Amino acid sequence: MTRSTNEDMGRKLNPRIEGLAQSAIRAMTVECAKVGGINLAQGICDTPVPHVVADAVATAVADGFNTYARCEGVEDLRRVLAKKMRAGGLDYDAETEIVVTIGATGAFQIAATALLQPGDEVILFEPFYGYHVSTLTTLGLVPRFVPMAPSASGTWTINDNALERAVGPRTRAIVVNTPANPCGKVFSRGELTGIGKFAAEHDLWIFTDEVYEHFVYDGLEHVSPAAIEGLRERTVTMSSLSKTLSVTGWRLGWMAADARWARAFAQVNDLVYVCAPTPLQVAAACGLKKLGPDYYAGLARDHQRKRDQLCAALSEAGLSPHVPQGAYYVLADSSRLPGVTAMDRAMHLLRATGLATVPGNAFHTAGRGDNLLRFCFGKTDADMNEACLRLKRL
Ligand SMILES: Cc1ncc(COP(=O)(O)O)c(C=O)c1O
Repeated sequence: MTRSTNEDMGRKLNPRIEGLAQSAIRAMTVECAKVGGINLAQGICDTPVPHVVADAVATAVADGFNTYARCEGVEDLRRVLAKKMRAGGLDYDAETEIVVTIGATGAFQIAATALLQPGDEVILFEPFYGYHVSTLTTLGLVPRFVPMAPSASGTWTINDNALERAVGPRTRAIVVNTPANPCGKVFSRGELTGIGKFAAEHDLWIFTDEVYEHFVYDGLEHVSPAAIEGLRERTVTMSSLSKTLSVTGWRLGWMAADARWARAFAQVNDLVYVCAPTPLQVAAACGLKKLGPDYYAGLARDHQRKRDQLCAALSEAGLSPHVPQGAYYVLADSSRLPGVTAMDRAMHLLRATGLATVPGNAFHTAGRGDNLLRFCFGKTDADMNEACLRLKRL
């Protein structure tokens, strides 16, 4: 027997990675490119980057901000983020409680790595954001799901008994995503207070992903769990500039928590990523200083208009939408399309209209979500107009 065969027998993928299939979202993006379609699958966010942000990149590079930054992030950016969070009722110290990360994706990975141990259980609401689940499982953590149900008014509700059923002796954390991807739920202050009480009773961390914090509609309020009395100490607040500034490729996010935990987050950030891209941090800080509340209000207004446009076209096409309160996705009932699985229906829609969507089962545990497709409306007006025309012709 040759040496290499022995080595092959001993060398194999970590089983936790084997289950990490290419996400359905990326798969649909690939299928969409093959037919030159309109990609309503991935939340790429192809709306324009604000000039004050884009213009600052070349200056940052020319000014020499091209080397490693501190692992906590560029000081100027942390100060701007602290100020921005203060406007949302969150009080974090820029020096000791904020870490700039490789997107909210990096932040979530760091929080789970720093605070949890293999075998620990984490509660998530379903429909869920797949990256949350995959990040947990690749770290040897065990997701426990609490299904949400759409009500007649279109909002998604949580059943308190389901929360109690999901918790056990090894449960250590609960994930909140508000506004939520994919269902667009905006958690109310009352709901978050209830979740906070539950977390306190069972001594759980609250991991909150707020990347869509500025995409909230119908005059609703975005509430950060850490802004609720008594919750700050057990909460890790995560957000990102990806969606807010249409810079998903810059990979800039942040996490904020009590200084005791934030120090460890900076160390894990250093170990895995060293730092987020320095010139982009400098440019983002410079741009954010120039963007006022009108910019954020404009984001909500523009996307509410796109939401309404898409929901109207979906209704006309017989794909009844669950109208979202926030974020920029619509889950729509696709049962009128031919096929057995959600992927069959997504592929049918792509062939018939050139519109790529995400099969609903990508956001659910096995056997659920097959009647749903997710449509993204974080798109340019031109793409939205064309997509809605095609839907109406379906
Ligand atoms: C809920 C949620 N969290 C995080 C992300 C990724 O954020 P980032 O680009 O900051 O890593 C996304 C992107 O689609 C998302 O929908």
